[in-house]
Amino acid sequence: MLRTVGKSLFVCPPHHPAGSLELCPAVLFFCRPRCSGIPYVPQPRDKSVSARSVISFYNQSAIDVAAEKPSVRLTPTTILYAGKSPDNSHILRSAQYLYKELPVRVAHRIRDFRHLPFIVGCNPTILHVHELYIRSFHLLSEFPPVEDFESEEKYTKLVKDLLDDHKDVVTLLAEGFRESRKHIKEYKVIQDFLDRMLTSRLGIRMLAQHHIALHQEKPNYVGIVCTQMSLKKIIEKWADFSRQVCEYKYGFAPRVRVLGHVGVVFPYIPLPLDYILPELLKNAMRATCEQHADNPVNMPDVTVTIANNDVDFIIRISDKGGGMPREILEKVMQYHFTTCGSEMDPASENLDGLGTMMSAMNDGPNGAGPMYGKRQQPKARNPVSEDLVEFVGRSGSNGFGFGLPTSRAYAEYLGGSLTYNTMQGIGTDVYLRLRHIDGNYESFRI
Ligand SMILES: Nc1ncnc2c1ncn2[C@@H]1O[C@H](COP(=O)(O)OP(=O)(O)O)[C@@H](O)[C@H]1O
Ligand SMILES: [Mg+2]
Repeated sequence: MLRTVGKSLFVCPPHHPAGSLELCPAVLFFCRPRCSGIPYVPQPRDKSVSARSVISFYNQSAIDVAAEKPSVRLTPTTILYAGKSPDNSHILRSAQYLYKELPVRVAHRIRDFRHLPFIVGCNPTILHVHELYIRSFHLLSEFPPVEDFESEEKYTKLVKDLLDDHKDVVTLLAEGFRESRKHIKEYKVIQDFLDRMLTSRLGIRMLAQHHIALHQEKPNYVGIVCTQMSLKKIIEKWADFSRQVCEYKYGFAPRVRVLGHVGVVFPYIPLPLDYILPELLKNAMRATCEQHADNPVNMPDVTVTIANNDVDFIIRISDKGGGMPREILEKVMQYHFTTCGSEMDPASENLDGLGTMMSAMNDGPNGAGPMYGKRQQPKARNPVSEDLVEFVGRSGSNGFGFGLPTSRAYAEYLGGSLTYNTMQGIGTDVYLRLRHIDGNYESFRI
């Protein structure tokens, strides 16, 4: 079968169904040198793999076989109580689980890329991510079985490297879909793909980080599970961070008050909160700053209220940032919807939008400073820590409109929800509701 892409004709292999919108391997193979906006960077750590053409990856039936397998999802309680054995055999078991599980999950993602509409799958940025997954699949599935601590160490190194290789995937997908979404009539296609992609990525990263963290002794932690997580502390940490970002951008930032069940401590996985909280806090702060730009000294606080019960916990983030206009209500949960960069937004550098969503997993909340709770006087852009500048600068583009939809997808993946009420002219309340993982009630699976 012949397909036209640009001015070139590519010959598709016979197994590729005629008329299918699946991404053709020929495109994967030929598109790269011709039209990629992103230079292909061979990974020096495995020259033998990077030297092979992408088509040799794509054609392998191993991906199809793995993509047919169901993924084995664990509850947080299982990983929490998997036991810590004195001979460290729990680390070996964890690596052996990952060894089986990661290729299956990565293959599921590759299958999803293949089912994207043809025109979207041809986008160079999306192709680049697709290719990243194919390469990861082969690195993972061609690794020899993990049977002893020596091979476990090498395997863990591979997992760490892959985490690093994939750290910019959300930014890349956001860019790729922004470029190609004009070709897609049905928004739901993008939404479903991104929801699945981002939540699956969250799950994979949680599992991988958990395994890596099992090697470290940290008080109150079992892998990535914090056995004594204080919601108030984690909210304050991200309030500090968001205020610094906000001050850097606007020259001032609202104070954050934390109310309600501030003393609660329970087991939870902080990692997803490290994504979601800064996104919600930055939104609340941005709205407040823009609404009160003419009188920043009397800017109203952002109020965060914690409510805890046996089954779940709720975090409400309330701002007096003027609320959302009626005409955008339907759209704010859509990927790519943003009012950043509009005339309301005086300084649209790389400081909002995707920022923390991109980097928090790898970088942590750099630069959480001492100014939490103090009212800042309006001033010219104040210097913030170099860490912070690097953190927000590297973190992708401003105002991609991924903060709310990604946070909602994560919340739902975690068995919870993200909803909001807004009063136009006054402000917005965002409710993040998440289920406990203490094993008393059913929770999500990673
Ligand atoms: N607390 C809020 N108050 C007013 N508008 C908000 C608030 N949170 C989100 N929005 C609106 O929703 C849009 C999408 O938010 P988000 O998904 O976080 O993307 P981004 O921050 O990149 O614009 C924002 O651009 C803004 O118009
Ligand atoms: Mg945002």
